[in-house]
Amino acid sequence: MTKREFDHGHDDCNSASNTTFETVLEERMSRREAMKLGAGLVGTLLLGPFAAEAAEDLPSRVASAALLGFGVVAKHTGDILTVPQGYTAKILYALGDPIAEGIGAYANDGSDTSESFLFRSGDHHDGMSYMGLSAEGTHRDAGNASRGLLCVNHENITQMFLHTAQEVRSLSVTNRPPSQIDKEVNAHGVSIIEIRDTGSGFVRNTVSGFNRRITPTTPMRLCGPASGSSMMATRYSPEGKATRGTLNNCSNGSTPWGTYLTCEENWAGCFKKSAPGFTPQELSAHKRYGITSEHGKYGWAECTRRDDLYERWHVAKTAGSGREDYRNIANTFGWVVEIDPYDPGCTPRKRTAMGRFAHEGAVGGIVTPGKPIVYYMGDDSKGEYIYKYVSARGWDPSDAQGGLEAGDRYLDEGKLYAAVFNADGTGEWRELSLSDEAVAGYTPYRFADEADVSIHSRLAADAAGATKMDRPEWTGVHPLTAEVYVTLTNNADRGKAGKYGLDPANPRYYEDASGKKGNLNGHIIRIREEGSEASATAFEWDVYLFGAPSDSGSVNVSGLGTENDFSGPDGLFFSQASKGLMWIQTDDSAYTRTSNCMMLAALPGAYGDGESLRVTSRAVPYSGGDENLLTHVGKKASAENLKRFLVGPRGCEITGITETPDGRTLFVNIQHPGENTAEGGILDPSTYESHWPAGDGFSRPRSATVVITKDDGGIIGT
Ligand code: FEO
Ligand code: CA
Ligand code: CA
Repeated sequence: MTKREFDHGHDDCNSASNTTFETVLEERMSRREAMKLGAGLVGTLLLGPFAAEAAEDLPSRVASAALLGFGVVAKHTGDILTVPQGYTAKILYALGDPIAEGIGAYANDGSDTSESFLFRSGDHHDGMSYMGLSAEGTHRDAGNASRGLLCVNHENITQMFLHTAQEVRSLSVTNRPPSQIDKEVNAHGVSIIEIRDTGSGFVRNTVSGFNRRITPTTPMRLCGPASGSSMMATRYSPEGKATRGTLNNCSNGSTPWGTYLTCEENWAGCFKKSAPGFTPQELSAHKRYGITSEHGKYGWAECTRRDDLYERWHVAKTAGSGREDYRNIANTFGWVVEIDPYDPGCTPRKRTAMGRFAHEGAVGGIVTPGKPIVYYMGDDSKGEYIYKYVSARGWDPSDAQGGLEAGDRYLDEGKLYAAVFNADGTGEWRELSLSDEAVAGYTPYRFADEADVSIHSRLAADAAGATKMDRPEWTGVHPLTAEVYVTLTNNADRGKAGKYGLDPANPRYYEDASGKKGNLNGHIIRIREEGSEASATAFEWDVYLFGAPSDSGSVNVSGLGTENDFSGPDGLFFSQASKGLMWIQTDDSAYTRTSNCMMLAALPGAYGDGESLRVTSRAVPYSGGDENLLTHVGKKASAENLKRFLVGPRGCEITGITETPDGRTLFVNIQHPGENTAEGGILDPSTYESHWPAGDGFSRPRSATVVITKDDGGIIGT
């Protein structure tokens, strides 16, 4: 059997004709003046809306060189996890670990049952949040650094490592036994586990009443503008107000009212699609979302047993109306989902006001009483958009313990915007609503109502003329400057004829020694909202940092050295304990001959701390266009502002990060070690790409959460 290409599902579905700035005018040079004004921005901001809070404890918060006081971790391609000297990393929660009494240790040979996965860790750990629990373990205490709930996303699966070797040999996308499908389904979703610091580090409480698995079968409520729409009706919920499950939970977020947000990313490929009976407009919407698979990537709709549980994976008109079949099932995925981890019996709520796309994550802006709640969100596919949600209601601190009912107040009514990056370094947020003429009058897709606009955010953003980006992944908001950072991981089609033209916000394309082309190493864009108001509709931007091998000549725009060169930025996280400290995690395939994926610590400065310059490419461009594109670049990297902190084992990506409120414990996820193992090699453990974390030369690799502490008990990153 040949190796099945590991499918992260980053389909290329954006053929909308909105502008990508093929040509750039010299007028942008005037922006240098603005950049000069941006110097010393933190001081400037003290006069802004955050003045009171920031001035009060600025001395203790300003990031200093001491924050990067650790020794550089060298790049490597070994099957080990490395952290700086003086730090320790321990496994806390690995694929298959039990979370309830009576569930045995994980056999890790494919024999663990599908039912047991309702009480075991799922696969492919991704975004996560530490949420403090009271000392006695009864209720929320956000500030408790020694007892908490860890909410962990399980984004995907490495299918071959979940089944027995015999089963793997006969894997197919048709005629699938129900037990195999059930196991794969149950290994997705979210874990909520209680953890406690015993004095010698965090351990799991395997019998906690808070422990819970949420899977693609867990009942969910549909909330917000799309709830009750006929486009959400299914046989399961003819009223269109509920669905089962959450899927491909990638990155995450949290709320000021103590709930967890999990974001549905590459769900489209899980569905089987049959076209007969759909209108041309419906088919165009399916195409725009990548709902085009003949069997679904795992064949979950192709079960040997006829059952509603499997039929629901089939997007097809099989009955007289959407109330009787699953033609609309895919419309109930692609959302931000809110969960109250402190209420183990709660029904999670899908927040449709925040839009439907390949949601990477949802990171909140700075919360200010009386001001709207704001979330920044990426849509991770080639040429997709950056979004912002702004609640209709201003924040009322009396809602701080409000749970999902508070969520109803802030996340069900608001405005959704998509970002436009202008060549001159300015930008704007365009509202996705029928109140916008471009959306209301869009002819390629006629929106029926606001529910339709929510369900088809990508099409609304096409209509609004949003800028096609190089795969927006995580977002982060700098707690001192309120500036927004978005990782753009890579785009193999940037610069490719007929695909995505260059623009100043996505300015690079080049070819590496192996013949790969496009924006291979990714970059991180930075947004400064107008007047520092998170609800602003205008902003300025620059590119904070470009990924590159240190020896890649002009491709290495940010001047990376061996101590900090990286490729494929994905995870991005601002410490709340050490304000100003940012973590960057990589999910890379362009630099992995030199190093496995990694995590770096950064002190990112502020918008405008660099210069406007021309970005040239090392190798021959493979389509026409401006190969000396002028853009706006942040301050160059140095060992003082960017340093490698961790390198993972073979075949993994580093993704998912959270910390205790005191900054002394960091939780990091190692996802899909060994993912490049050939399926046919399952019978021969010596061919596994990785055996991490066992490291025994025999075991199957496992995704896992690791806990990182400093041996002297100090703050992480110092
Ligand atoms: Fe799930 Fe875009 O990473
Ligand atoms: Ca990611
Ligand atoms: Ca990624």
